[in-house]
Order: sequence, then C-alpha cells, then structure tokens
Amino acid sequence: MSFSPGLPKKDSEPQPSGGERKLATNTMQNTTPSLPDRVHTARLTLRPFALGDIDDIMLYATDERWSRFLPVPQPYTRADGITFLELQAKADTITAPRWAIEYEGKVVGGINIRFESGFARGVMGYSIAPAVWGKGLTTEAARRIVDLSFESLSQLEEVAADANSLNTASLKVMEKLGMRRVGVSQQQRPKHEGLVDIVTCSLSREEWLASRAAPAAG
Ligand SMILES: CC(C)(COP(=O)(O)OP(=O)(O)OC[C@H]1O[C@@H](n2cnc3c(N)ncnc32)[C@H](O)[C@@H]1OP(=O)(O)O)[C@@H](O)C(=O)NCCC(=O)NCCS
Repeated sequence: MSFSPGLPKKDSEPQPSGGERKLATNTMQNTTPSLPDRVHTARLTLRPFALGDIDDIMLYATDERWSRFLPVPQPYTRADGITFLELQAKADTITAPRWAIEYEGKVVGGINIRFESGFARGVMGYSIAPAVWGKGLTTEAARRIVDLSFESLSQLEEVAADANSLNTASLKVMEKLGMRRVGVSQQQRPKHEGLVDIVTCSLSREEWLASRAAPAAG
C-alpha cells in the first residue's frame, strides 16, 4: 500500500493537534490512544500536511519516477495536489494517521498507517521525493512509525506493508524494518494492465520486540 498525494480516503473529523509526548484519547473508541500528530526523528519532522505544502508536493508529484507505482493521476495537476491536501485535513487520525515528511524545511513525502481488525493490524504506506531517495529517510520515518504504533497500541499484533514486486526500493525499506515476506498475490492495480504481483511483508509484535533487543541493523 502506498501513501501518496492522490488517494481519496474515507475520513471523518480531524483530531486536535498535540506534541510528540501527548497521546490524545479517541472519544469514539475511548481506550484507543491516537498516535502523536508531530513526531521527530534524527533528520525528519513528521507532521500534519497543510495547504501551504502544495508547492513542495508539486515538485515531486509531477516526477514520473515518483508516480511509477502509485495510483495517482497523471499528469499530476495543482488541483490534484490541493484535493489531496484537503482530504488530509479531514483525515481520521485514530484509525488512519498520516504525516507529511519534512526534511531540511521542505515536505518531501508522506507516510501513513491504517489500522484494521480492531487495531490488531496496521498497514503502512509511504512515498518520498526522488531528489532525496537512497538516504535512508523513508526507513527512518517508517521505523519511528512502527515503534510508535507498537508502543502506543497494546492490541496491535502486526504491522504490514505491500508493494509491486518490481518496486525494489520499497521492498528494501520493508526488509530494513525487519519485515518478513508473507505472501505474493496477483492484483489489479491502477495504471497497470492485467494483474501485477504484489508482495506483502509483515512484522509481528514478537519480531519487533526481538529486533529491539538485538543490535541495530542498517
Ligand atoms: C520506495 C521509497 C519510499 C524508498 O524511499 P527511500 O527514502 O529512498 O528509501 P531508503 O533510502 O530508506 O531505502 C531504500 C533502499 O533501497 C535501495 N534501493 C533503491 N533502489 C534499488 C534498486 N533498484 N535495487 C536495489 N536496491 C535499491 C537503496 O539503496 C536503499 O537501501 P540501502 O539503505 O541498503 O542502500 C521511494 O523510492 C519512493 O517514494 N518511491 C516512489 C513511491 C513508492 O513507490 N512508494 C512505495 C509504494 S509501495
């Protein structure tokens, strides 16, 4: 599953903003904490998208390398970007939190996790600008979201992600997160004719705990 400026989401009202230490309480599922809406890593700030991010988004969303595996409109117009940003403002941040990835003062991508099955499973998606590929930024963002998800949600049993089998970089990110390949399915995907192979990878709570006990890898 990808996260990209282009995917319509079924969303409800936004939650109040808060700092990283704050875990807001969901009024609908009042025992389920929400993930913080602002998160810092060594090099990144993960924070809500804002309408003012449109220029940063257009810089990468119009790049065909970025959109190759993503179900986004092509050509990608400014109106598409604004529609995406308007949808982010209405997001259900309890069941489907998402963050803009800010690096050196600019938005260079996005990351999200969608919780399913009563928060037992999270499915993560991400995308980042070609200009900053290969610096480990997506792995850094994704690792933080995986950690926060397991730390915040006691009922979470696994975090999964999937990618086109040709999307080597995305599969490498999953591998670096310690995820294991759990299956390949043939699926119809926008922009691709016929069926494509989609690889699903997963990290269980037990595997996550074991990876934290072991020395850090890559
Ligand atoms: C997938 C994506 C998010 C990766 O972002 P990134 O910030 O470059 O990822 P990282 O730098 O954390 O890790 C990428 C790894 O893949 C490796 N990689 C990239 N292209 C590769 C290739 N063709 N063959 C082998 N390895 C490759 C990189 O070397 C790096 O591994 P390393 O750290 O061991 O060197 C980015 O390419 C992207 O946004 N693509 C377009 C959108 C997309 O496909 N999103 C995912 C949909 S499932």
